[in-house]
Amino acid sequence: MVQTDVVVIGAGAAGLMCAFTAATRGRRVLLIDHANKAGKKILMSGGGRCNFTNLYTEPANFLSGNSHFCKSALARYTQWDFIEMVSRHGVPYHEKKLGQLFCDNKASDILGMLLDECEQAGVDLRLDTAVQQIDKAEDGYQLQTDSGPVTCQSLVIATGGLSIPTLGASGFGYQVARQFGHTLLPTRAGLVPFTITEPQLKSMCEALSGTSVEDCLVSCNGQSFRENILFTHRGLSGPAILQVSSYWEPGDAIEINLLPHLNLSEWLEEQRRERPNTELKTLLGELFTRKMAGLLAEHWFTSKPVKQYSANELTEIAERLACWRLVPAGTEGYRTAEVTLGGIDTREVSSKTMESQKSPGLYFVGEVLDVTGHLGGFNFQWAWASGYAAAQYV
Ligand code: FDA
Repeated sequence: MVQTDVVVIGAGAAGLMCAFTAATRGRRVLLIDHANKAGKKILMSGGGRCNFTNLYTEPANFLSGNSHFCKSALARYTQWDFIEMVSRHGVPYHEKKLGQLFCDNKASDILGMLLDECEQAGVDLRLDTAVQQIDKAEDGYQLQTDSGPVTCQSLVIATGGLSIPTLGASGFGYQVARQFGHTLLPTRAGLVPFTITEPQLKSMCEALSGTSVEDCLVSCNGQSFRENILFTHRGLSGPAILQVSSYWEPGDAIEINLLPHLNLSEWLEEQRRERPNTELKTLLGELFTRKMAGLLAEHWFTSKPVKQYSANELTEIAERLACWRLVPAGTEGYRTAEVTLGGIDTREVSSKTMESQKSPGLYFVGEVLDVTGHLGGFNFQWAWASGYAAAQYV
């Protein structure tokens, strides 16, 4: 029987942070993961360069049924604290855009740093280890694991959400929460591409697959994001689409302004005066790729010389491109989603310590909780901050 102070289940972003921070406080920490490698999502993140935090992190960047919950942890371990550690380890990084910090080299620099901290602090890391059973003991918890029984005073659940099962995601954290009387809020895929099945739109997406439109304003349910969008074989993706997907529910329409930086109506009028014989398709080819302009002209408008349109018709064309309304058929689901929305109801967890209000000594950190960040490094910042908060009390 192994006896230890703290067991952390899940060696992802939040679990690693929690484990070495608690060990640095002098706690004996066992960190368990069923995967054969720690931090698989960190390695995959940010296109292999890990967008590890955001300079402009604030509570408004997070979705939760309890919007105040994330404030305390985010204030006590900020983006500046994580940047300090990254700098101390000599990991080179840069701001890509909008405050998003990425490694100059590889995401493995961040994972290497976290594993280094674990080793320095004396964390006992066991991979390829599944937990079969958890029971409440007199002073803590007893676990049955692949490597035998373990008892601990504090148990931290850091097993993440449901997205990308091939990277080790499982519903384990939710099962544990349920076992100890917690309420679960419905989960769904977030930061995920949309699928489109409406035949005409689908064929346009297929034809334009791989094409991106640089500056779009995408809105859904009162939230708007201005970034690029990307056509895919199955529908729409790109940062602005991923962001809005977290606010989308099946059946909702989204609205896309394909040219938020331009008063298109005025621009078309100007072209009509200055180059009346130019075809609409050619003009749109100056704003989008030529292929996209051709398809828009084919599917949405009939292309003719601009002088042949009335002022009203030009306004209608401009409006169509500024308010493209569509109802996605669905999302790509957990297979490609970056995060899981919903999860453990934070109203039953202390925002200061991350401790369960149902079962003393049980803690939840990271994505398993109902806290989901926007795209841009916010989800890792939540993992760091919540892991750090729990580590002060376990
Ligand atoms: P995380 O998923 O990191 O870790 C959970 C761990 O628990 C895993 O190691 C898993 O193997 C383990 N586990 C699960 N079930 C278990 C069980 N039954 N027993 C034992 N262990 C178990 N965010 C961001 O801020 N910037 C970015 O650049 C990206 N990029 C990105 C790319 C991709 C492809 C994805 C899928 C996600 C991102 N994200 C992101 C989101 C980010 O990766 C995510 O929010 C955090 O990793 C969540 O950290 P957690 O530690 O909570 O879970």
